[in-house]
Order: sequence, then C-alpha cells, then structure tokens
Amino acid sequence: MKASFLCVTNRAEQETGTIRSSVPMNKVLILAAFFFLGINFAQSQNFDVKTPLLGVEAPSFRAESTHGTMNFPADFGRNWKILFSHPKDFTPVCSSELLELAYQQEGFDRLGASIVVLSTDLLSQHRSWVAALEDIPYKDGKPVNISFPLVSDEQHRVSYMYGMIHSAESIGENIRAVFIIDPDNKVRAINYYPNEVGRNIDELKRTLIALQKTHKRKDIATPANWQPGDDFMVPILSSADRESIGTPGSLFYQWSWFMTFMRSE
Ligand code: BEZ
Repeated sequence: MKASFLCVTNRAEQETGTIRSSVPMNKVLILAAFFFLGINFAQSQNFDVKTPLLGVEAPSFRAESTHGTMNFPADFGRNWKILFSHPKDFTPVCSSELLELAYQQEGFDRLGASIVVLSTDLLSQHRSWVAALEDIPYKDGKPVNISFPLVSDEQHRVSYMYGMIHSAESIGENIRAVFIIDPDNKVRAINYYPNEVGRNIDELKRTLIALQKTHKRKDIATPANWQPGDDFMVPILSSADRESIGTPGSLFYQWSWFMTFMRSE
C-alpha cells in the first residue's frame, strides 16, 4: 500500500488481508483544507445571515462608499433612509433604476429621505459606473447627477446582514432589495424583487409618503392604490368620531361598519 493512500478497512478485511476500498489521501487532505478554510473565512467575516424584519432596529454597519467611509444608519441622523441593493454595476436594468432614482432625487430630498445604494462590486467599479451613467442623456435629453452614495460590499458582509443574498436566485450577487428605515432607525418596509424586474421608483416614493403619514398619525392607514391627497382609512375609531358619521361636516364616512374613511386635510 502506498503512503499516499488512506485505507479504509474493516475487521474482516484485516483478518483476511484483503482491502475492499481505499480513498486517495491527497483528496482527503484537499477536501479537509477547503472545509477548514471555508469555516475560517465565514468566521473571519462574522457573517450574520439573519434578515431584519419589519419593526426591528436597522442593523448598523461601517463600509466604504463613493462618498467615503459610511456609518449606516447613524450618518443620516433623523432622516428616513432607503437602502437599495442591486445585483451588478453596468447591467442594463440596474442602470435604469439608478438613472430614475437620480432623476427623482429632489423629490426624495423634499421628503427628508436619504438614498444609499449597495452592491458587492468594487468601489472603483462604482465610480466608473456613476461617471458612465452621468454621461447618458436621460429624460428630456438631460444627464442626471448622482448625488447618493454607492456602498461597496465586496466582502458581502452587509448583504448577508440584510438578507440580500438569495443563492437560489443568483450566486454571490445581491437581489434587488429595498429597505425603508424611519427616523428612529426602525425597518418599516422591505421589498425583494428578482433580477429580471426593475423596481418602480414612483411606488417606492408612494410607499415612503404613506409611511410618513402613518408614522405621524398612528390611527390612520392607507387603502389599496392610495395616492398622496386621497382619503385615509381609520381601522379604530373613537366613539365621538363614530357618532359624528353622517352629521354635517364630519371628517369620517363609511362604506360598511368595518370600512371607515377619513377625509384628507
Ligand atoms: C440587470 O440589471 O440588467 C440584470 C442584473 C442581473 C441579472 C439580469 C439583469
């Protein structure tokens, strides 16, 4: 028997002197090394694969971005935060999403919302992509200015922390995730989209506005297809407000005893 072979024998084989199976030692060593290195890599990265759920504190991280080192969410104070991940720089759908985000930047600024874009691409790649996007004649033929930061999550640390890696969908790249985080740094909305479907930035803004309204007034909610300016719903009504229904000047009206609306101010 060669020294480079690990022999797997049983008692009968030892007694009879026959050897039924053997595994090459070098293969065993290579597999063991891969296993050991894999565990060590995951441990050294301290991956937390928990996905934050609605209502929890947004996981904080420190990372390099096109605006320098970022401490998220602390750097954005009491602004609303939109954490927006994408699979890959220089891909067509991602490019269209960033152009539209930049085009609507002023609207997000007015709402007191900070946008942070994140992928596993290198920082140098982010910088080249931003420059290339800013060269494109967008709506009305005008180029956009990309003023939000792009985070480079090369080590996948943040991506795992926020549950943005869905290996069955794509290996080693983020899916299209959006986290809306309120001024108290609580996660208030989570959207996951597949690679093939570009996100609707109008819908993102609509959700943000609805969240801001319901954050201010905890007793209201927004019905299906609600748009800013539409009436709200009131899941729980005080008895005084209930009694006002049907009287002149009442703010409230009902479609049924279980569907009460409040006129928007
Ligand atoms: C895109 O952004 O175009 C894209 C990214 C990953 C897979 C497919 C499309």
